[in-house]
Amino acid sequence: MSKKLFIQSYGCAMNFSDSEIVASILKKEGYKLCDQIENSDLVLINTCSIREKAEHTVRKRLETINVHKKNNSSMVVGILGCMAERLKNKLLNEEKIVDIVAGPDAYRDLPNLVKNVIYKNEKSINTILSLEETYENIEPVRIDSNGITAFISIMRGCDNMCSFCVVPYTRGRERSRNPYSIINEAKDLFNKGYREITLLGQNVDSFKWSPLNNNKIKLEKQSENKDVVYFCDLLEMTANISPDLRIRFSTSHPKDITSDVLSVIKKYDNVCNYIHLPAQSGNSRILKKMNRTYDRTWYLNKINDIRSIVGNSCGISSDFITGFCSESESEHLDTLSLMDNVIYDYSYMFYYSERPGTLAHRKYKDDIPLETKKRRLDEIVKKQNIHSFKRNELTIDEQYKILVEGVSKKSDKFLRGRTSENKMVIFSKKDNIIGKYVDVKIKECNSATLFGEIC
Ligand code: SAH
Ligand code: SF4
Ligand code: F3S
Repeated sequence: MSKKLFIQSYGCAMNFSDSEIVASILKKEGYKLCDQIENSDLVLINTCSIREKAEHTVRKRLETINVHKKNNSSMVVGILGCMAERLKNKLLNEEKIVDIVAGPDAYRDLPNLVKNVIYKNEKSINTILSLEETYENIEPVRIDSNGITAFISIMRGCDNMCSFCVVPYTRGRERSRNPYSIINEAKDLFNKGYREITLLGQNVDSFKWSPLNNNKIKLEKQSENKDVVYFCDLLEMTANISPDLRIRFSTSHPKDITSDVLSVIKKYDNVCNYIHLPAQSGNSRILKKMNRTYDRTWYLNKINDIRSIVGNSCGISSDFITGFCSESESEHLDTLSLMDNVIYDYSYMFYYSERPGTLAHRKYKDDIPLETKKRRLDEIVKKQNIHSFKRNELTIDEQYKILVEGVSKKSDKFLRGRTSENKMVIFSKKDNIIGKYVDVKIKECNSATLFGEIC
């Protein structure tokens, strides 16, 4: 009889993608995915540490899992991902319900960790980070898949050391996956009917791979080293699989996105006109303190490059943090003015949450009062809503090629899909078009969604 695995993911797309790798590793051990926690033999929670709130959510979730474990004492509970890596043994000591703690590079060891718990009745932990692990030969089991869009992990870790960020500590050193295994995975997905892939990494534009020594390549120019595969090459290789396979990528660090990448976006219709380019702040002193390695002018020049190479219609989104250590009112106004300058299509916005062990925690005081952080957040959120509406209004009466992803979440009389620029479009239902491309003319919009009719 097969054993049942319940797996739940929090945090970024990398975590959701990792859970698919975990499901694949455990499938070989006879575990089948199950969506009822109470009937599961193994419950795994893939966790996020990016902000204090993210960790709090997981702690709360453990309380509800505890109720199920009381009714099913043989249930094994494991914590995976960034919280596992950050807290290590502390998690086992603090959360009595937890049997397994496994960091992001330890998933191949999960079968052993589980057996240890079941047969030896011992709690198990592996939080060793790796310089090489990319899980490149593991075919992910697609969880909650719509059969149309999928993530492909192309690199792991991050070497950037932004001073506020816990990721370099929880995910380890940056390493790129063999591009040929990426292409094979993408081709396989296309052959199975998928029509959109998102290439994933904390910093995709610094992807670089060489058949000789993947981890020791210096940042050389492409022309100087013919064997090295850079991100622009990988993008082009995936774009060439089929014009019917859409390619997205996330996330780009402003310091690494090159005009070669922008030219590939321009050259290929199936490479989406959308770039997530987190600014974090609009003030150069704060950016320096954040260790982002660019300043306001440099960032705005990058935006100009995007507008001039890819075009004005290119979707651009950002991440912002309000109330970082010592941020003054006028420095906060610089963030608002940067937003006015760029007019983003969308932004993910947060107030600063100090993370133990980071550079900012060690060097700077978390000295902006919570209510100020929240008020500043509220101001940027309001501005972004106005800008999103403004950008969406530009699409009215225009025609867009939409990949139909499914039925609208609000009404089954409507379908939903996205434009190349990553805008969600709702339109009247028609039979047999889910998973296909259709042309839609936009009639109306709000700040989040476009509404149109099939042409
Ligand atoms: N690698 C991506 C970001 C990963 S984390 C990049 O560099 O863009 C996603 C976002 O969470 C970050 O862009 C940042 O805006 C936010 N974030 C990270 N650490 C944070 C912290 N300590 N407090 C608040 N927001 C944070
Ligand atoms: Fe964190 Fe910066 Fe790396 Fe993004 S680039 S994951 S914000 S350290
Ligand atoms: Fe969270 Fe880890 Fe992703 S901290 S945002 S799950 S890399």
